[in-house]
Amino acid sequence: MSRQTGREYYKSMKEKLDYYRRKGYKKVEGFIYPYTIECVCDLSDVQKSHGIKGSMCEIGVHQGRFFILLHLLADSDEYSIACDLFERQEENIGKSGHGNKEIFLENIEKSGGDLSRVKIITRNSLNIAPDDLLTHGGIRMISVDGGHEAGTAYNDIKLAADTMVDGGIIWLDDFPHESWLGVMEGTYRFFFDAEKELWPIAILERKLILTNNERMAQVYMSKMFESLSLYYDIGHSIFVGKRVLVMWEKSPRRKLKKYLQQIRFWKSIQKYRLVDEFGKILNKHF
Ligand SMILES: C[S@@+](CC[C@H](N)C(=O)[O-])C[C@H]1O[C@@H](n2cnc3c(N)ncnc32)[C@H](O)[C@@H]1O
Repeated sequence: MSRQTGREYYKSMKEKLDYYRRKGYKKVEGFIYPYTIECVCDLSDVQKSHGIKGSMCEIGVHQGRFFILLHLLADSDEYSIACDLFERQEENIGKSGHGNKEIFLENIEKSGGDLSRVKIITRNSLNIAPDDLLTHGGIRMISVDGGHEAGTAYNDIKLAADTMVDGGIIWLDDFPHESWLGVMEGTYRFFFDAEKELWPIAILERKLILTNNERMAQVYMSKMFESLSLYYDIGHSIFVGKRVLVMWEKSPRRKLKKYLQQIRFWKSIQKYRLVDEFGKILNKHF
C-alpha cells in the first residue's frame, strides 16, 4: 500500500468501491439496500466537493455490510471507526443483529479495505464517550444501527450529534420500522430534548438521514432528488417541524416512462406525429 503513489492509491480504492457498490455488498451479510448505497456514495461526493472531511463511523456493524461501504468511501487520510458489542452479545438486550468480529474483519479484507485505518471499539455504545470516537478528528458520516431500544437509540443519536463535523450526516436505521419502535421513541426524545439541532434530509429504505447544517441539508436534498427521481416519486413531509424528503417506489412502467422522458433521443423525436401518438398512449395507460 505504502509503495503506491497517491494517484494509484486513489485508482485502486475507486475500483474496489465500484465493485463493492455493484456486487460486493451482496456477499456481506447485513442490512443496506441498493438505492441507499447509491445515495451514500452521492452524498459522500457532495461532502468531498464541499471540503467536508472527517472519519467514517458505524455503531452496530454486524458483519460489515454498511461499514465497508463507508470505509471504501474514506480518503487515504480518513479513518473508519466500528463500534459493536461483538463477543459481548449477552448485552444485546433487544437482539438486533449479532456482531461477529472474525467475520467482520474477514469481510473488510476480502473487500480490499485498509485495516490500518480501521479502529474497532468492542463495547456497549452506552459506555462509549464522544472522545472515543474523536481520536482521528470529527466524523463526517455515521451510521446508527446498534441497540434498537429507545434509550440506546437516544444515546447513539446524541453520540453522533456530539462528534460530527459541520455538514456531517447520520444514517439512522429502522426509522420507521414497526418491529423496532424503540428507534422512533429514542429519536423523538432526542429532538424534544433538542440539545443539538439536526435537520432531516430524507427517509429512504427505512433510514432517516440527518445532518447538523441547515444549508447543507438543502444541498443534500437536491442531490438525492436528482439521483432518485428516476426510481421514486418524491414528495416531502414535515418531521419535527422541518421538511424531509419521502419517497414511493415507482412501478416498472413509470420508471420506463420517466427514463424515456429523460433521454435526448426520445425528446428529439417527440415532434413526429407517430411518436406523439405513442406518447399519448403511454400517458393514458401508465
Ligand atoms: C442490525 S445489526 C447492524 C447491521 C449493520 N449495520 C449492517 O450494515 O449490516 C445491529 C448490530 O448492533 C450490535 N449492537 C446491539 N446492541 C448494541 C449496543 N448496545 N452497543 C453496541 N453494539 C450493539 C449488534 O451486535 C449487531 O451487530
